[in-house]
Amino acid sequence: MARSLDGTVALITGASSGIGWATALALAAEGASIAAVARRKDRLTALARELGETRAAAIDADVAAPGAGAEIVARAVAELGRLDIVVNNAGVMLLGPIEDAPLEEWRRMLEVNVAGLLEVTHAAIPHLLGAVETSRRRVADIVNVSSVAGRIAREGSGVYNLTKWGVGAFTESLRQELATRYVRASLIEPGVTQTELASHMRPDVRERSQARFKGIKQLTAEDIAQAITFIVTRERDVAVNEMMVRPTQSV
Ligand SMILES: NC(=O)c1ccc[n+]([C@@H]2O[C@H](COP(=O)([O-])OP(=O)(O)OC[C@H]3O[C@@H](n4cnc5c(N)ncnc54)[C@H](OP(=O)(O)O)[C@@H]3O)[C@@H](O)[C@H]2O)c1
Repeated sequence: MARSLDGTVALITGASSGIGWATALALAAEGASIAAVARRKDRLTALARELGETRAAAIDADVAAPGAGAEIVARAVAELGRLDIVVNNAGVMLLGPIEDAPLEEWRRMLEVNVAGLLEVTHAAIPHLLGAVETSRRRVADIVNVSSVAGRIAREGSGVYNLTKWGVGAFTESLRQELATRYVRASLIEPGVTQTELASHMRPDVRERSQARFKGIKQLTAEDIAQAITFIVTRERDVAVNEMMVRPTQSV
């Protein structure tokens, strides 16, 4: 039976764990070939194994390295032949007070969450416009993974808020620029989701931040992957511009 993404290629950054990993499996189940991007090569190899029959390219790269975006997109297209969908998902969340924060943490968030996403997007646009002309779907997609933190600022997450706010503004501007040419730019804003994301924070900051969600059943990476799949499988003339998905008990 034909699947909605048969013949397409989806590039997913941050595919070595969490939301990116689950999204790779979900889009593959709809028929997409997968270009999986992250730094941990062993995890990408494991993902490729789990993808089984799906055509896949494991692209071990640091999205934050200057010039990486062009190289990542070129590798994906060289290995899989085209590009129809980009999920800009790679991200880091290094929370904590602004006062006395290690500046290196701020730099990393800016480089991965913002600069990496910008570079991949910049390099992908010509291929996505090409995909509109050559695909059965006659539409292409960029899904940027923001966060509830891109809509609601809180004490203790100022720079993470800044990066995700920026992703939201950029995505809306990009949406307006590409909409009439059938490249859909969409924003997804997950609430707290059980992944490795919090594990990179300083232990005291992590404890404080996790106390907020005590007793709440968190989302799974698969919940967000399903939402992304919904976005990219709409009919050509339907664009889901923005989607916030939170655990029911989140306040
Ligand atoms: N979990 C949540 O509660 C939540 C809520 C809202 C939004 N989000 C967003 O969801 C996205 C995915 O996060 P997650 O929750 O799935 O966390 P995760 O399991 O930690 O996944 C993050 C992914 O980003 C990749 N990554 C990090 N730095 C990278 C770099 N420099 N170059 C390439 N890849 C890099 C990691 O791979 P390597 O380490 O192998 O490079 C990993 O695959 C992030 O943008 C995050 O901000 C998460």
